[in-house]
Amino acid sequence: MGQAKAMADGSWYDTDIDHVIISEEQIREKIDELAKQVAADHADVKDGILLVCVLKGAVMFMADFARSLGRQGPSTEMEFMAVSSYGQGTTSSGVVRILKDLDRDITDRHVLVVEDIVDSGLTLSWLMKYLESRSPASVEVVALFRKPDAVKVQVPTKYVGFDIPNEFVVGYGLDFAERYREMPYVGVLKPEVYARS
Ligand code: PRP
Repeated sequence: MGQAKAMADGSWYDTDIDHVIISEEQIREKIDELAKQVAADHADVKDGILLVCVLKGAVMFMADFARSLGRQGPSTEMEFMAVSSYGQGTTSSGVVRILKDLDRDITDRHVLVVEDIVDSGLTLSWLMKYLESRSPASVEVVALFRKPDAVKVQVPTKYVGFDIPNEFVVGYGLDFAERYREMPYVGVLKPEVYARS
């Protein structure tokens, strides 16, 4: 799908986007691929997979990934966590505060963390330690996007959708000042959008 088609529906956000990084169709295809892989790797899991969505960015991915997994894999349950990293400006520090914790015990469960993006890796690194301390049977990660050039701490991310350039991107859950999350594709904002905010 070309950029013109990816942005053809004329939504309010289209004119703010400089260029598309990943189209809606690419996202849909990749999610089905990831779900197929996860389903194959968990075919023997009896009590289902416990999906842990990290709010808010991963909400779109969680919804689409869970539905795709449901069509081809074991059953799932959904949990939601909200964390906030104490950062300076736009960079996170690795010190994380829990805003919303898990609602249930994950002891002996197969946990799959559903993340929209791994940037520095600091949030995920902290989260993995936190979840592992709660005695699950396993903890793995599926991340739709990863920025290899931004990584500060390596986190074993078993399933990755797309490696993307180290640019500030919005859409499909990713925000700028809480906006653009509803965009069905991922793109880079025009410089003037930052200038007017
Ligand atoms: C984003 C994203 C990841 C984290 C990745 O969340 O959803 O959780 O940053 O960054 P890192 O690898 O550098 O730690 P954010 O804190 O922006 O919150 P949001 O999901 O509510 O937008």
